Amino acid sequence: MDVIEFFNNTCDHEDDWTANGWSSWETQQGMFSVLSHILAGNSGSVLDVGCGTGCYYRFLQQRLGQKFPLWKYTGIDINPKMVERARRENEDIDVSLRDVMDHDGPPHDYVIGAGTFNVRIDGDQTLYLQQRMEKMFSLAKRGVALSLLSRDLCSEEHQQETRDQLFFYDAPSVLLACLHYITPNVKLDHTSLPSQFIVYLHKDG
Ligand SMILES: C[S@@+](CC[C@H](N)C(=O)[O-])C[C@H]1O[C@@H](n2cnc3c(N)ncnc32)[C@H](O)[C@@H]1O
Repeated sequence: MDVIEFFNNTCDHEDDWTANGWSSWETQQGMFSVLSHILAGNSGSVLDVGCGTGCYYRFLQQRLGQKFPLWKYTGIDINPKMVERARRENEDIDVSLRDVMDHDGPPHDYVIGAGTFNVRIDGDQTLYLQQRMEKMFSLAKRGVALSLLSRDLCSEEHQQETRDQLFFYDAPSVLLACLHYITPNVKLDHTSLPSQFIVYLHKDG
């Protein structure tokens, strides 16, 4: 499946969570909350890989309140419609139309990806994910947090219904790919959310 085409089809939905491929507002916000466990300290910079329509930007604004100006947010997305809508709906947001594999420049403290690599691609999905996680890790000064659909947490029915479009990752294989190719400082949270797990990669152990 082509990733841009997949999100061209969701992006016109009025609801922000549906536009970004989530089943509900609660699921999306719960995911943001769990991913944000990695953010430490009172200030820093965040790169949101696959920022979609900019919902995580608004989440951070609300979550951080008066401390928000101490954080620098940057969003990137490969989908032109998503980037256009993110700019339209979020005054002053810093977003660019870019594939993470082409993103360079100074590193960010934290690199976040909420549901970014769950669309099934043609080819080796584990290698595709590993290369993108490696790139995210190279762009981070402190850590990476990424959510993935779990083969073991999603119902068989849901996996069957969406199998042509979505990929459900095998958590142990993802953990091994991180350990072998990226860093031993990896934590996998398979407990916090109904159908997904989170990979946290830390630079400093
Ligand atoms: C499931 S949506 C999530 C959007 C947003 N993170 C949220 O949770 O509301 C995934 C987004 O990742 C983007 N994306 C997929 N692969 C990407 C890549 N290689 N580089 C940048 N963005 C990517 C898609 O275009 C899509 O907008």
